[in-house]
Amino acid sequence: MTIYLDNAATSHPKPPKVYETLASCLQVAGANPGRAGHKMARLAQQIIENTRFKLTKLISASSLEQIIFTFNATDALNMAIKGILEPGDHVITSYLEHNSVLRPLQNLAQKQITLTLIKPSAEGLISPKDIEKAIRPETKLIAITGASNVLGTLQPIEEIGDIAHQNNKLFLVDASQVLGVIPIDVEQMHIDLLAGSGHKALMGPPGTGFLYTSLKNPIKNWREGGTGGDSLSPLQPTNLPHQLEAGTHNFLGIAGLETALDFIEEKTIKKIKEQELFLLENLIAKLKEIPEVTLYGTFDLTKRVGVQSLSLKGYSSDEVATILDEHFDIAVRGGLHCAPLLHQALGTVPNGLVRVSLGAFNTLEDIEAFIFAIKEIIS
Ligand SMILES: Cc1ncc(COP(=O)(O)O)c(C=O)c1O
Repeated sequence: MTIYLDNAATSHPKPPKVYETLASCLQVAGANPGRAGHKMARLAQQIIENTRFKLTKLISASSLEQIIFTFNATDALNMAIKGILEPGDHVITSYLEHNSVLRPLQNLAQKQITLTLIKPSAEGLISPKDIEKAIRPETKLIAITGASNVLGTLQPIEEIGDIAHQNNKLFLVDASQVLGVIPIDVEQMHIDLLAGSGHKALMGPPGTGFLYTSLKNPIKNWREGGTGGDSLSPLQPTNLPHQLEAGTHNFLGIAGLETALDFIEEKTIKKIKEQELFLLENLIAKLKEIPEVTLYGTFDLTKRVGVQSLSLKGYSSDEVATILDEHFDIAVRGGLHCAPLLHQALGTVPNGLVRVSLGAFNTLEDIEAFIFAIKEIIS
């Protein structure tokens, strides 16, 4: 069986009950949620609203209308960025960001907005002071990742949130790499917009994600169309979540996500995190003993999620990933991981890095198999 160490891209396997939900749900509730009054449609709608409720609990949001279902984190980030920025706005973001933040911002920056990019420290951490210094009167948004998808470094979200709040700026967090492994409280952290991926550490199926909004700033219509109510209105409804949720939901994916959220609640984020950090510590300790390996990111585990990038002397990252796949049946990701500015800052273009990303189902045996394979490649 494949040893899967690519959970930062999407988690695998999912909790066993998620597969059961996916197998049964279309049969018992496979109607169009919210589009009819019959029992099957009501049941489908109920599943969607239950999932919405569980997401509000996960991030300590205060109301259901604050959660907008999307098809992934990219969708949520585009919705937030393009939905709130106006010509003349200034945005602060960082070199750590994924292309799902950088590309929409860089596109808008070609003509409409201005952008300040904050460099992380050598260990991959953004300094809240650097953010504070970059604030201008016309700054509308501070957009920062919760954790780097390359270095696994956890960013000081609460401190940055405080600065955003004190300066009356909107704060957008790309929570793709933290939800499910790090407790998030949007109110305590002063987060105005949060983009979540349903299929990474939240362990739901692909095609799921969501945007949280504090409702502080209206978001422009994303796509317009049927919402299941108010059909006579010629325009998109203005009430959330309907304003931003036109069209048929990924009902099956959302049902699977609900089951995954139940699994996380039962297992607890605390335990999932402890287990991932235990494996990460073990991985780092063993990799440090191999002179041909260079490791990236801080070794302070209080500032980490279960992602470790490395290079192997004499090999490109893609070569290592291919050998691991073909000869050892180990799945990792090589390349630039959609984070081009960070790789430029690290000096790892064009070879990229081998990224090992842990999930809730990885074991010490997986780490040992990976270390064995790396040693075999070297020898
Ligand atoms: C930090 C970060 N942001 C955004 C994304 C995009 O997530 P999605 O695939 O759900 O659109 C990823 C995916 O790898 C990511 O790691």
